[in-house]
Amino acid sequence: MKNIAVIGAGTMGNGIAHTFAQFGYKVNLIDISEESLDKGMKTISGNLDRMVSKEKISAADKEATLNNITTYTDIPKGVKEIDLVVEAATENEDLKLNIFKQLDENCSAETILASNTSSISITKIASVVSNPERVIGMHFMNPVPIMKLVEIIRGYSTSNEVTSSIMELSEKLNKVPVEANDYPGFVANRILMPMINEAIETYYNGVAGVKEIDTVMKLGMAHPMGPLQLADFIGLDVCHSILEVMYDGFKNPKYAPCPLLTNMVMAGKLGIKSGEGFYDYSESKKAEKVSAQFS
Ligand SMILES: NC(=O)c1ccc[n+]([C@@H]2O[C@H](COP(=O)([O-])OP(=O)(O)OC[C@H]3O[C@@H](n4cnc5c(N)ncnc54)[C@H](O)[C@@H]3O)[C@@H](O)[C@H]2O)c1
Repeated sequence: MKNIAVIGAGTMGNGIAHTFAQFGYKVNLIDISEESLDKGMKTISGNLDRMVSKEKISAADKEATLNNITTYTDIPKGVKEIDLVVEAATENEDLKLNIFKQLDENCSAETILASNTSSISITKIASVVSNPERVIGMHFMNPVPIMKLVEIIRGYSTSNEVTSSIMELSEKLNKVPVEANDYPGFVANRILMPMINEAIETYYNGVAGVKEIDTVMKLGMAHPMGPLQLADFIGLDVCHSILEVMYDGFKNPKYAPCPLLTNMVMAGKLGIKSGEGFYDYSESKKAEKVSAQFS
């Protein structure tokens, strides 16, 4: 596999494009919005600058990485002669089904179609594709260039061949792939999201403040980041939609999003990406926070 298309240039898509490009793959980065593509490329460039200043890569590596990425606003053009598509668009089932229908129409039958979805069923996504054995979940973690784990999700029909080649490819990106079956939340979010939701519930119930809850989990449980800060980092809308999928999928009230989380999402307080969540991210603070994640 040499040619990769990444759909979505947001938080995850730009990190996925950066990672493939840094390891020498040619990447077509596709988004519906020019603005998102510009922002995504700026983020990649800034993150590469940080790697250069820490002497993890050279200035020439940075240039080579950026030169490996071409941007597109049109899926049919961006997925021509592509070996693997990694879809990392907004977490919305209808939107993803629509993208995969377009991929089915525009990619060759050999192209592997992966989704970075946090929670939507890979089997459901594969149901709109004519040969569903080539559809798989490739669930990278945030920030992608730094985090070692890739959860590899096998849909009901995903073939052994496709699974093996995606496991091998992940290793070539210096990641550690872990295989999981296709049930709501897979492994990572099935465990993480109830913890984040419980931290929000603890705050909502007035048991302790935001900083206090995060400090308990950081210093008491040796978590590198508190659950409320992590929720801001992931995006409160993303957390909310993952909990909804688990709530619907298991029909179990223990996964119901805390009413405070629902209210914050409705109010547009989505965490770092909107400038406010459980913490305030004014422009200067935002830069500090994001750079702290890459240190
Ligand atoms: N944020 C996280 O920490 C995290 C972690 C793991 C997985 N994920 C998953 O990754 C995916 C992307 O999440 P994100 O946090 O990067 O979201 P985001 O909101 O930061 O970015 C989504 C991008 O998708 C683009 N987009 C929307 N519709 C599109 C379309 N039809 N074609 C092309 N681009 C389109 C948007 O313009 C935006 O740039 C989701 O499925 C999410 O569940 C997120």
